[in-house]
Amino acid sequence: MVMNIVITGASNGLGAALARLYARPGITLGLIGRDHARLDAVAAEARAAGALTVLGYIDVSDAATMKTWMQAFDLAAPIDLVIANAGISRGTSADGTPEGLDAVTEQIRVNLLGAANTIEPVMAAMRARRHGQIGLITSIAGFRGLPYSPGYCASKAGMRAYGEALRAALRPFGIAVSVVSPGFFETEMTNQFRGSKPFMISVGRAASITKRGLDARRSRIVYPQLLGLALRLADLIPAWLGDLILRNFRFHIAPR
Ligand SMILES: NC(=O)c1ccc[n+]([C@@H]2O[C@H](COP(=O)([O-])OP(=O)(O)OC[C@H]3O[C@@H](n4cnc5c(N)ncnc54)[C@H](OP(=O)(O)O)[C@@H]3O)[C@@H](O)[C@H]2O)c1
Repeated sequence: MVMNIVITGASNGLGAALARLYARPGITLGLIGRDHARLDAVAAEARAAGALTVLGYIDVSDAATMKTWMQAFDLAAPIDLVIANAGISRGTSADGTPEGLDAVTEQIRVNLLGAANTIEPVMAAMRARRHGQIGLITSIAGFRGLPYSPGYCASKAGMRAYGEALRAALRPFGIAVSVVSPGFFETEMTNQFRGSKPFMISVGRAASITKRGLDARRSRIVYPQLLGLALRLADLIPAWLGDLILRNFRFHIAPR
């Protein structure tokens, strides 16, 4: 039974919605984010629902602090489920100006390395217990490079490959790994997106679908299925055709 859960990026958006869904008596929630006020507010709601909370006001890209915090949490409350959800998105500007090296580096540091900083410190203990579950919130943008968000796509494709690799490696040790690839859901992140956001759903619905998939220990959780399929197909058709189709979408990501 899942009792002790860590969620990164729990101060806002999907992470906060997941924290609210999991919060109930008997559950200990380790909630990580940088914004103190927002994380405190989410934790207060979780406690009101009966959960115990342990807060980490941490930047997930800080490997040393993450290691210390994750291992201390795991020692006090052996982790049943860890959800690497913290993420940022940047992108090319409306006129096609590249996002720049700093933005690419930051996304890989927070999204991809942040996930590794979350998971790696507790993997050995989970393996020793032969129990646990890991969820990685990637994106359908990890299926195929998109011209308006190269750094984001790279970070999410990296997370997806990392999660798939871990799943194969950890299953013999009783650890389930779920790679979650969502399409658009409504949060502050999507408020940055300029252009059409097909099949966008509420963050509450995204959290419910994610939790249902995690409860079932599904290997891959892709939603909406149609958009996931479209992006996977875009990767299978000839590159020139995929490029042509994707270039014609008017889409860019406004700076936050
Ligand atoms: N929204 C979408 O349509 C969509 C689609 C596909 C995938 N996703 C992915 O879903 C995840 C959640 O996105 P969201 O839409 O809920 O975004 P959001 O509303 O912007 O929330 C992002 C969360 O990540 C945390 N975070 C960001 N940088 C961090 C850092 N360096 N260290 C620790 N925490 C950090 C933020 O907390 P602090 O600011 O307090 O640190 C916040 O809690 C992300 O990985 C995103 O890439 C989103």
